[in-house]
Amino acid sequence: MHIEFLKHSPIKGACILFIESASNMGPFLRSLDKDGYITKSIKHSPAFEGKEGQTIHILSPQCCSAERLFIISLGNKEEIDKLSMQRIGAKITDLLNQNKISTADIIAEDLGDIISLDKAEAIANLLFGARIKNYAFNNHFEKKKDQHALYLKSLSITCADSDAIINAGKELTAAAEGIILTRNLVSEPANILHPEEFMQRCKALTELGVKLTVLDKAKMASLGMNALLGVAQGSAMQPYTVIMEWKPNNLRTDKTLALVGKGVCFDSGGINIKPTAGMGDMKYDKAGAATVVGAMHTIATRKANAHVIGIIGLVENMPSGTAQRPSDIITTMSGQTVEVGNTDAEGRLVLADIMHYVQKNYKITHMIDIATLTGAVVVALGETYAGAFSNTKNLAEQLCTIGEETGDLLWHMPLHKNYDKQIDSIVADISNDGGGRGAGSCTAAHFLQRFVLDGCIWAHLDIAGMAWNKNGTALSPAGATGFGVKVFDRFVKKHIEQ
Ligand code: BES
Ligand code: MN
Ligand code: ZN
Repeated sequence: MHIEFLKHSPIKGACILFIESASNMGPFLRSLDKDGYITKSIKHSPAFEGKEGQTIHILSPQCCSAERLFIISLGNKEEIDKLSMQRIGAKITDLLNQNKISTADIIAEDLGDIISLDKAEAIANLLFGARIKNYAFNNHFEKKKDQHALYLKSLSITCADSDAIINAGKELTAAAEGIILTRNLVSEPANILHPEEFMQRCKALTELGVKLTVLDKAKMASLGMNALLGVAQGSAMQPYTVIMEWKPNNLRTDKTLALVGKGVCFDSGGINIKPTAGMGDMKYDKAGAATVVGAMHTIATRKANAHVIGIIGLVENMPSGTAQRPSDIITTMSGQTVEVGNTDAEGRLVLADIMHYVQKNYKITHMIDIATLTGAVVVALGETYAGAFSNTKNLAEQLCTIGEETGDLLWHMPLHKNYDKQIDSIVADISNDGGGRGAGSCTAAHFLQRFVLDGCIWAHLDIAGMAWNKNGTALSPAGATGFGVKVFDRFVKKHIEQ
């Protein structure tokens, strides 16, 4: 989406104006209300109560030369914050697309005295919301291309100080790009985005100064990454591990963060095959990896002063004559053995080896893994919170706070020695199924914890309920959400860069 800045609005085409609650008009809107035209329009719109995002749409207004006005309520002054401004931006995107309008003029001066938030910050957040809502995964339509195109192409902002908005928006723009990259990776089906293609797409990060290392099957075999390879062995697709390193020259901190992502391009369940209904959803089982790539893109674009290693395990979990069996025993790269109780608990097997690899090959101080790991977390937290587990209370709290700040909500979930007992096996060091006694997300987290080395501050984010939303959310259309990119970006900014 193209954004331009104007000093004065030509007041033609579509104009977007703001009001706080039902009565407190912005200065520009007030100037249009000289003859009471706006007040009357509000009176004639009984459904308009001034709640956040409610809109009055006036066609051919008599009070000015615009073709149409959208008067959007920002809600009550005390409740207007960065996140609500992002939702307003997303609302603008929806309004314009629904009305098949390709451009509009946002009258920023109208925010003048109706918000207490810094105006540049407010507009930057509005633009962020508008940008990320104006997304469609529509590159596979041929005959129906036009029907699925986005109408909204550009926004112009009328304001006195465009530099302030551009400055306030720099990091948000980087985050928006990362989120869109993540959504593209999540949305693509596995016949197109198989592990090799996913690995190829990561190469674009090198243009931002990210160092890329790719481990192919032979290399992983020589390293003993048998847990990851065991998952991949039923598939005709070659598995890969991709390591993305961001390390600026002027590094001012000795912390090193690893971001670890589950990249199961398709999870059929393997020999423990999933039921028919909803199996296609499992193309988004690579969302953890996609989030790591999107976050690396954001961090490198805004040139974060931080050492961050992204690592993703790319495989496909398929049933076949070469697939691993329930009851197989494998030796992981860490040396610990695992009984494959269930071939559908494959994510933790992939993560176990790449978590071990990254801790052995880099001096990692902090490690956060992200994965669509369990159906159980969807049962527990639904589509509202992702589950956050950590071996360090402070890290869990930092992440949950960031969840509230960014709107990518995280709920602190428990680790407990009883859960850890549930993953003991009678034939190997660990079993990959939770023992069938409930708490499936917690036992999965404990499985991962067995691969965390002493001294590493670690957290695990289970995003099975958050990576995809078939109804869309406030800031994302139906489909891939890009959940987690903002969390990683902000975590780096607040806790790694210092
Ligand atoms: N990829 C699934 C988890 C999942 C479920 C992601 C729903 C997104 C939406 C994972 O690999 C899986 O199959 N987990 C099993 C584990 C069980 C076999 C121990 C589960 O949650 O049922
Ligand atoms: Mn599975
Ligand atoms: Zn899976």
